Amino acid sequence: MRFHVLTLFPSMFESPFAESLIARARRNGLVEILTYDVRAHAETPRSVDDYAFGGGPGMVMKPEPVFEAVEAARKAGARGAPIVLLSPRGRRLTQTVVQNLAACDNLTMICGRYEGVDERVRLHLATDEISIGDFVLSGGELAAMVLIDSVSRLIPGVVGSTESTRNDSFTTGLLQYPQYTRPAEYRGWRVPEVLLSGNHGEIARWRREESLRITLASRPDLLETVRLSDDDRTILKKLEAGSQP
Ligand SMILES: C[S@@+](CC[C@H](N)C(=O)[O-])C[C@H]1O[C@@H](n2cnc3c(N)ncnc32)[C@H](O)[C@@H]1O
Repeated sequence: MRFHVLTLFPSMFESPFAESLIARARRNGLVEILTYDVRAHAETPRSVDDYAFGGGPGMVMKPEPVFEAVEAARKAGARGAPIVLLSPRGRRLTQTVVQNLAACDNLTMICGRYEGVDERVRLHLATDEISIGDFVLSGGELAAMVLIDSVSRLIPGVVGSTESTRNDSFTTGLLQYPQYTRPAEYRGWRVPEVLLSGNHGEIARWRREESLRITLASRPDLLETVRLSDDDRTILKKLEAGSQP
């Protein structure tokens, strides 16, 4: 997967992807992150933004350098690829959106700054508009990084075992069960006995119950769309009634 990122601050993308999983994926050629300095596509380095027509505080990113930078990305292989404008107005980023984007070979992202980007970029250049949540960042760079990280995890070979991404929160439709590692006892807090039992059937059942319990407590809205088995429904009824399943 090749990510093409249009930004006024390309160096922001260096250190977050120089460590751990994504760094290894880059070394192995599974992920490529190409940044395009929007300033380099402006008439002068200082002419990337201008006052808003109609007045008001703050500056707006001009359309020309953004269109030009996208053209450079197209020449580098992004022709035909989705062009995502990061914006608080966009559709909300979810694991389903991430899964769909992970099927692309190239993905172009436009990071806004200041008051945002000239509307003509949204209307005539971007093919998608994504928000990472109902809050306002200073720029689209952190949102683009969230997108790069979450999408990269789903590229085969990036995470060691595909089982771990299959069991992730949201991928199953539920939140994930609690995880424990050694020691089996720490400061008197013992790991649930079932996890030490070696009984894989019991462990799977405990994990499913815990996923349902945590989802019911923290994100009951997810239960409206997930496919539930008869066993799941019985467990949920007991949980809702306040008894142990
Ligand atoms: C300060 S914000 C502009 C906010 C804009 N004035 C508004 O009220 O919607 C600058 C840039 O940060 C990015 N940004 C801010 N919040 C975001 C979010 N929740 N998701 C994705 N991008 C965001 C966008 O690229 C945006 O153009």
